[in-house]
Amino acid sequence: MQQDLAGRVALITGAGNGIGRETAHQMAARGAIVGVNDLKEEFVEAAVASIRAAGGQAFGVVQNVSTRDGIHAAVQSAHEQGGGRFDILVNNAAWVRYQAVPEIAEDTMDRMLAVGFKGVIWGIQAAVAAMDAERGGVIVNVASTAALRSAPNSVVYSGIKSGIVGITRAAAAELGAQNIRVNAVCPSAIPTEGTQRNRNAERDARRVATTPLGRLGTVEDIARGICFLAGDESGFVTGQALVLDGGVTFSNL
Ligand SMILES: NC(=O)c1ccc[n+]([C@@H]2O[C@H](COP(=O)([O-])OP(=O)(O)OC[C@H]3O[C@@H](n4cnc5c(N)ncnc54)[C@H](O)[C@@H]3O)[C@@H](O)[C@H]2O)c1
Repeated sequence: MQQDLAGRVALITGAGNGIGRETAHQMAARGAIVGVNDLKEEFVEAAVASIRAAGGQAFGVVQNVSTRDGIHAAVQSAHEQGGGRFDILVNNAAWVRYQAVPEIAEDTMDRMLAVGFKGVIWGIQAAVAAMDAERGGVIVNVASTAALRSAPNSVVYSGIKSGIVGITRAAAAELGAQNIRVNAVCPSAIPTEGTQRNRNAERDARRVATTPLGRLGTVEDIARGICFLAGDESGFVTGQALVLDGGVTFSNL
């Protein structure tokens, strides 16, 4: 594996599971010193241990990133544990419920907004404060293909993920002069712990049949896209939403 992230300090929110955990693994394999954030201590410990067992460098950041204080403390902790530098933030954490319009509840929407929307903006704010003024850094926000086309019962989720694409563009425009690149990824449906409850064989088969590349995506596919945006190979890319979906979003199969 190329060592294109050697020595860079990264924080990945919600990295105790799924896409975040695989991204932490791949970044560590590319030489980054990776802060693994999650709400749940046992997830953090397990992810850090498996990255270290694979020969990578990682440290744990147990923190709820749904508040301004929480994400600022997480970035600060990564800066300290990373030896006084901070280079990469992946805003990946989300708490998601799919609800039809009549069922949308205030507490559900507030919780989704807190971690998935406000948390991203607070994360950008914290990262900018922690990054070196000259070296700058990279922010990758995890949006979704739900930002680009409709999905069942996803008025709140689609709204948040569309917002992430807008936040990404606006932050990229504002922060480019500080040598900070900001991009997003838009994954299609990926089997993870978080999506298990909404999956079934029939729905998966339908997705495969309508995907030009003929399979569901994997956490590895998405992590590779995030690592590309985090590294120097994408050095002239900012404000983009990279669609990682096997072609399903714009296909008419
Ligand atoms: N899996 C998919 O199909 C899919 C598709 C498109 C986009 N996404 C996006 O990718 C990201 C990751 O999704 P996933 O499926 O890997 O999720 P997941 O549920 O498997 O993992 C998310 C992790 O985030 C943690 N988390 C939740 N709230 C937190 C908080 N406040 N502070 C810290 N950690 C918190 C959870 O404990 C969990 O370990 C999300 O932003 C999701 O919306 C996922």
